[in-house]
Amino acid sequence: MAASMDASIEIPVLDHDAVLAAVGPVAAIDHVGEAFVRHHHGAWTMPPKVYLDCAPYGDFRAMPARGGDFALLKWVTSFPGNPARGLATVNGVVCLSDARTGLPLALLDARAVTALRTGAVAAVAARALAPAGARTVGIIGCGLNGAWAARCLHAAGYGPGVCTDPRAEVARELAAELGGGWRVGERSASLACDVVCCVTPGSEPVIDAADLRPGLHLNMLGADGPGKAEATLEAVVACALFCDEWAQAAHGGELTGAVAAGLVTRERVTDLGAVLAGEAAGRPGPAAVTLFDSTGLAIQDLAIAAAALEAWRAGAVGAQTVRL
Ligand SMILES: NC(=O)c1ccc[n+]([C@@H]2O[C@H](COP(=O)([O-])OP(=O)(O)OC[C@H]3O[C@@H](n4cnc5c(N)ncnc54)[C@H](O)[C@@H]3O)[C@@H](O)[C@H]2O)c1
Repeated sequence: MAASMDASIEIPVLDHDAVLAAVGPVAAIDHVGEAFVRHHHGAWTMPPKVYLDCAPYGDFRAMPARGGDFALLKWVTSFPGNPARGLATVNGVVCLSDARTGLPLALLDARAVTALRTGAVAAVAARALAPAGARTVGIIGCGLNGAWAARCLHAAGYGPGVCTDPRAEVARELAAELGGGWRVGERSASLACDVVCCVTPGSEPVIDAADLRPGLHLNMLGADGPGKAEATLEAVVACALFCDEWAQAAHGGELTGAVAAGLVTRERVTDLGAVLAGEAAGRPGPAAVTLFDSTGLAIQDLAIAAAALEAWRAGAVGAQTVRL
């Protein structure tokens, strides 16, 4: 006789604050770094993200990944005009499922998961690619994801830093929050720092070839979709190039323009996961300028979502539940 089945499932919904309470920046950096290594070894898998254009407002992305006993889908946006309407640029929902049964396990706020994993990769890439003595940080674009890049680099021991943003109040608030010598400054002051993170909407370049100097490490985080760029082609081709994932970087990242122009080929670009796994060289030498193109990977989201679920299961954070 078949066992009786209760078809209804009760799952937690981790809101923005619950996600951030569940996974701190230091843990996020560790989990995201591990996710890159697992992905490099093929243990965690991920098809390229799918874009749903929503011009003139922005776009939606569907981002699946599988790793361990989990499968994940992030349904998330980039709507650059939203801040002018008092809304965040990035919004959406993450669904974490059991990869052995297919059952949903949790829903999470995609804004918090995205900010945490995006900030975390800035620190992971800086540790892997910046010169050993690099400390100071320039943040060009201090919105939601720029602020989390700053917080994660701060948590990883970098700083002090310079916060650059035409919205003077967000730059001021971020510098005040981090304290310890962090300050507001012009683009040139940010560019004088050891590690420079660009997290603008990507509608105009903020890095030119003339801005490059020996030993600089650039985290290019803002250009995460077709048509966006934060550096000129001349700047990109002058750097030692690294990316989070070639398929995404070549079609919807900082490298896309240079790839389309035939100036950069696959052989010129090293995956961050290969460097972290010890299978590829990182920085070519102390004088090189390294550029890391972050397009944002679903495996990063999986790393954060799985850790957040674990924290909820351990009773470290509360969450509302819903019955499906
Ligand atoms: N790589 C990734 O994984 C990833 C993840 C999330 C978001 N993003 C992308 O990052 C970008 C920023 O996202 P967000 O959610 O932080 O947006 P946001 O609107 O919160 O922040 C963008 C900030 O950039 C500032 N800015 C605009 N032009 C600038 C300039 N020339 N110099 C300095 N600052 C400038 C804006 O004033 C704003 O404060 C978007 O393009 C988004 O799609 C990438």
